[in-house]
Amino acid sequence: MRIVSGMRPTGSLHLGHYFGVIKNWLELQKENECFFFVADWHALSTKYEDKLNLQELSIDLAKTWIACGIDPEKSTVFIQSDIKEHSELYLVLNMITPVNWLERNPSYKDMLEQPEFKDKNMAGFLTYPVLQTADIVLYDGELVPIGEDQKPHLELAREIVRRFHHLFGSEIFTEPKEKLTETSKLSGLDGRKMSKSYNNSIYLDDDTETIWQKLRGAKTDTNRIKKTDKGNPEVCTVWEYHKIFSDKETQEKIYSECTAGTIGCVACKKECAKNIDAFLAPIREKKASLSDEYVLEILEKSKQKAGKIAAEKMEKVNKLIKG
Ligand code: TRP
Ligand code: SF4
Repeated sequence: MRIVSGMRPTGSLHLGHYFGVIKNWLELQKENECFFFVADWHALSTKYEDKLNLQELSIDLAKTWIACGIDPEKSTVFIQSDIKEHSELYLVLNMITPVNWLERNPSYKDMLEQPEFKDKNMAGFLTYPVLQTADIVLYDGELVPIGEDQKPHLELAREIVRRFHHLFGSEIFTEPKEKLTETSKLSGLDGRKMSKSYNNSIYLDDDTETIWQKLRGAKTDTNRIKKTDKGNPEVCTVWEYHKIFSDKETQEKIYSECTAGTIGCVACKKECAKNIDAFLAPIREKKASLSDEYVLEILEKSKQKAGKIAAEKMEKVNKLIKG
């Protein structure tokens, strides 16, 4: 199957991104033709005034993907704005997308309810899903791995495709389907969802010491004060991490010692930090070994490959609309 997915380059990735998105990509890459791109234009839709260094952030994001195991020999890794057809198709699709379809999009409505958004209500944010549609249908993406929050965007993409086909009388696009990521709502250090804005994240770039310092402050079973208090791992964030990063034997030991009140939280956290670090170290090392030049070379090669497909599709579109 043809897979298309993108991520906005808004800064370092954390474990929530890894288990929510990247892990899924790694799985899909094994048996499918994948196009993974850095959605730098999409990043502008909300961050246009933050003076993001999009060039640097984009290269760093692609580098992180490769460090995580996205294989540029198998998958096409590129930058959205390198392929101008994304903007060209976006323009065309904007011409046929009713504004009220976009206004009833739940993520748009959510944003409207936030008072601080009022001044940031740009045309590009309203039409964000139109650009996302262009991203996908340009490559005839069949399956789009996304999180639950993006489901309405995929629904819109299908509606826009159908409307285009209906208006221009030829079915030149594939209707994309979502592949929902098993909701890995990895908790952050404070027990809430891991999110950059909550300042509760462990980043893929964090070094050994940083991981430990973060774990030290992680929320545990708050009823547990002394080491001899019997704990309940089920309400403890550290336990959640143990279940992902520690081996079965360690998990059993931690569980029984916590519930019996024979291990202190500090020792438990040390063990946990060690295992998270063991998971992240190879990603960190691989990333450090990749030069910008190497990543740029990959991006350039992919640009050629994706660009060819995009140009062919756009030619069909232009033929149709010009009649
Ligand atoms: N909107 C997606 C997000 O915020 C990013 C994205 C842009 C995307 N274009 C896409 C995802 C196309 C899948 C397909 O996560
Ligand atoms: Fe959590 Fe470990 Fe403390 Fe138990 S011992 S409450 S699992 S940190």
